Amino acid sequence: MRSSPLTGDPTTTRGPAAAAAATAAAATGRAGAPDPAAPAGPTAAPALDAEALAAGLAAARDRSLAYTDLTEDDLLRQHSPLMSPLVWDLAHIGNYEEIWLLRALTGAAELRPGLDDVYDAFRHSRASRTALPLLGPDEARAYLRDVRGRAMDVLTGLDPDLLHAPETAGEAAGPEAGNGNGAESRNGAANGDGERDGGAAVHRRARLLSGSFVYGMVIQHEHQHDETMLATLQLRAGPPVLADPRPAPPSPAGPVDEAAEVLVPAGEFTMGTSTEPWAYDNERPAHRVFLPAFRLGRYPVTNRAHLAFIADGGYADERLWSAEGWAWRCQEGLTAPLFWSRDGDVWTRRRFGRVEPVPLDEPVQHVCWYEAEAHARWAGRRLPTEAEWEKACAHDPVTGRSRRYPWGDTDPTPELANLGHRTARPAPVGGRPAGASPYGAEQMIGDVWEWTGGGFTPYPGFASFPYREYSEVFYPRDAAPARFRVLRGGSWATDPSAVRSTFRNWDFPIRRQIFAGFRLARDADTP
Ligand SMILES: [Fe+2]
Repeated sequence: MRSSPLTGDPTTTRGPAAAAAATAAAATGRAGAPDPAAPAGPTAAPALDAEALAAGLAAARDRSLAYTDLTEDDLLRQHSPLMSPLVWDLAHIGNYEEIWLLRALTGAAELRPGLDDVYDAFRHSRASRTALPLLGPDEARAYLRDVRGRAMDVLTGLDPDLLHAPETAGEAAGPEAGNGNGAESRNGAANGDGERDGGAAVHRRARLLSGSFVYGMVIQHEHQHDETMLATLQLRAGPPVLADPRPAPPSPAGPVDEAAEVLVPAGEFTMGTSTEPWAYDNERPAHRVFLPAFRLGRYPVTNRAHLAFIADGGYADERLWSAEGWAWRCQEGLTAPLFWSRDGDVWTRRRFGRVEPVPLDEPVQHVCWYEAEAHARWAGRRLPTEAEWEKACAHDPVTGRSRRYPWGDTDPTPELANLGHRTARPAPVGGRPAGASPYGAEQMIGDVWEWTGGGFTPYPGFASFPYREYSEVFYPRDAAPARFRVLRGGSWATDPSAVRSTFRNWDFPIRRQIFAGFRLARDADTP
């Protein structure tokens, strides 16, 4: 997770590796090569000083410790074969921090030889991790404290000018082959590996520090694992263990047309970024993309709409599904989103150990890409392409530039977006009009990750940094179809530091434990 956010290793997937993206083909944009004269994408946020970075690291750690304040059994148990035991996530967070904030920046030796292997997400599938010689909960917490103490010493000893140096990612000193390890998928979150000292070490260190990138990477990584751990806790059977149920998110002030659309006229926009200090390599570089006119749902698809799809026999109608999707639907016996049950005429869902009626006005979540695709076909729509999603989210037709967020470049607040586990659920659609994009699309950041129609592929001019295993190994090779689908916008569980208009999350099209939903699109001239 990464994003991130939250799923299984390539080694554990059971489903078809790729699916046709025919539904998205109609609105494929024309992506051009990076243009030095083109706008560089969203305006970069100010580089952070050491004090702010320390606060960011501390906030992520508070969250990690809160989610792992559990019994030893809960920490050691594998709650789902899709997920690591929580104690693995915990020590892996520390190992990643050691690799990047200690060894990469200072050349320090390994603190505990052997940990790199145990906590390498590429070497061990999630399903196999309970068999590894894991640090116990107390050992893991002590390791995290040790690493953090040393990382703070490094941070306070840095020349502040290095953190404020101009953004240079994308220039020179490419990735060092073999120096990464890590991500099982975006939702398995990245896990860096050892940095090798060499002739380019000084340049590479400066590049890691410019715009405080490496600190942003470590902060985002920890929050991404926090979201992964929340997904594990959602999959966990038994009574609730999250100690602090959050308040319900705000409801809209008046009636909401859940099927409303916004129109995005034809034209070019700047996709991706070359200046956002904490942007990952897969968000780079900024490039111009032309899109024909299209319409996009003003809101994500709601539970009410998905119940209508179910009631109309959507899960039983093969015509609505791709061949791969139908095979998966039949193999798994899919009849509704994950965690849903039917009790007579009432649909309920289990949310962190509590069973409750499905709220009709919330965005649907815990659907896989295939379900989203089938729903869209049933509705006479399609999923938006990544480019359409980003243009509708970020492009400002007045200024011609792209924004960090739909509402502008200012940091998210609770009034603008449902992020950071302030609530433990998506917000009803229509409750955050202040967060609308220039085209009027709402809730594009926060609430639910949104599946998009195409595969996870590199932008023109992509250069891997700082290690290939963050993004590059997940791209299709040669002429093979893309194996991963892209999710955009973050969920209610995503920290504000780990999402922006250019942020790309990805996963297999079969995954359902992610806090993911979707919205609908169509060509502007399609009735
Ligand atoms: Fe990771």
